[in-house]
Amino acid sequence: MEVIVRKTYEDISREGAKIIRKKMAKKPDLILGLATGSTPLGLYKELVRMHKEEELDFSQVKSFNLDEYVGLVPDHPQSYRYFMNENLFDHINIKKENTRVPDGMANDLEAECLQYEEEIRKAGGIDIQVLGIGSDGHIAFNEPGSSLGSRTRIKTLTKQTIEDNSRFFEKEKDVPRFALTMGIGSIMDSRSIFLFADGERKGDVIAVAIEGPITADITASILQMHPRVTYLLDEAAASKLKRRDYYRWVDENKAKVKGATT
Ligand code: PGA
Repeated sequence: MEVIVRKTYEDISREGAKIIRKKMAKKPDLILGLATGSTPLGLYKELVRMHKEEELDFSQVKSFNLDEYVGLVPDHPQSYRYFMNENLFDHINIKKENTRVPDGMANDLEAECLQYEEEIRKAGGIDIQVLGIGSDGHIAFNEPGSSLGSRTRIKTLTKQTIEDNSRFFEKEKDVPRFALTMGIGSIMDSRSIFLFADGERKGDVIAVAIEGPITADITASILQMHPRVTYLLDEAAASKLKRRDYYRWVDENKAKVKGATT
């Protein structure tokens, strides 16, 4: 596990993009697991800048998104496919056919979930999974109480998430009640995981997820079981961590011994 704390949101976004660039240099056909929400926007902006100004090449990259609402067409402004096109895919040279978002309009949603898992497996698995964290500790749409072994499936959203997301819709009743989401087990299969969080409002949940007990109540806490997880936090999001001095110490000293982590 690694906890990287930087002063601002922009700093963690840049740091994350640098890590992805470094991995792409070693593996140009990287398999990226991508997230939506406000957290990864800075990361995507920086990747777009690197593509435009530094010729970062996505032509061989494949991507899989974590989740999608059920019942929104791909060009609905609140669909996650639309979000990804607008904020990343339309501005880099990734091939659209190599970008996969669960199809929330599929006739057979259960078959779509199985197919999604199969496509990830066939692609060779996810190299880098990007995650945000919800205020209730969820990752993707794995709400509190989700099975820690869950796979891609149809999920009923909690009232809290519907309320949180209603700010993007005209009326609360327009927020979809269901989503397709990669499960906790699917996310844990990724070779490396990078969870980003910023701002004071994420401070409490970050402390519980990283340093509290592993529980389905805070689904992000399962990441403690992953051998290669990195948390990229701004100072506000890291402010409630008990061991933050130790994490800083590790970060400052890691260049001395290759591969040193907490
Ligand atoms: P946010 O959402 O990035 O908009 O804070 C995170 C999440 O719900 O996973």
